Amino acid sequence: MIGLHKKSEKNAIFLLVLSLIVVTIGGLVEIVPLFYLENTIEKVNGMRPYTPLELAGRNIYVREGCYLCHSQMIRPFRDEAERYGHYSLAAESMYDHPFQWGSKRTGPDLARVGGRYSNEWHASHLKDPREVVPESVMPMYAFLARRVIDDHAIAKHLSALRTLGVPYTDEMIENARADLAAQAVPGADTSALLARYPKTPVGDFDGNPAEVTEMDALIAYLQMLGTLVDFSTYERAPR
Ligand code: HEC
Repeated sequence: MIGLHKKSEKNAIFLLVLSLIVVTIGGLVEIVPLFYLENTIEKVNGMRPYTPLELAGRNIYVREGCYLCHSQMIRPFRDEAERYGHYSLAAESMYDHPFQWGSKRTGPDLARVGGRYSNEWHASHLKDPREVVPESVMPMYAFLARRVIDDHAIAKHLSALRTLGVPYTDEMIENARADLAAQAVPGADTSALLARYPKTPVGDFDGNPAEVTEMDALIAYLQMLGTLVDFSTYERAPR
């Protein structure tokens, strides 16, 4: 044994071959079990695909680069969980293409901001953040309230996501435009929408009931973030 050790320290090629063997064993031990798992994401009750209005709002979130200042990923540390709530589960971003985990927190994490503030708060905050948080450095997004949402491609977006594995049904795709309107027009018939997408906040989001604006879509998206999984009943899957 000592002789072998001496040899490996003196002969670089021999040492390389030995290291390769060790690394290969380590790699196999880590990788092989993954082939026997059907899915690496634990199933969690409550997850559903985004409604068309939320998806449109998410597109605005991406277009405006909100992810450059905001993460959507609560890490499993005590300080994070005390500030933002339960740490993020893999299942909570399984329908996200692309995901919005982010890598920079100029502003707070938004993974569980849904339901934390009223729609009115979001509308005034997005129009002028300084109005509600005087020391804020967040830019103003007042123009979103003046832009009517462009929904002509929303059904196509749903079917594109379906090719990536998001479980949108034919019915959801056919009714995408109608569902988008139903969620944001006060007094609209929302029964079909709510049957397709449970746990969906409906109504006027931006304070202007006459039009469905980009602000409506963005607030609808913010208000659902982190609200789908019920953590009072959630239990970690047994290992
Ligand atoms: C230049 C960085 C920056 C950008 C870009 C930015 N924000 Fe912010 N955001 C902040 C900061 C800083 C705060 C904390 C102060 C405040 O509440 O305004 C904040 C706070 C927030 C909050 C309140 C969060 C909480 O828990 O109190 C929301 C919601 C929010 N931003 C949404 C957005 C959205 C949506 C966009 C894109 C349209 C966006 N932000 C773009 C910096 C940014």
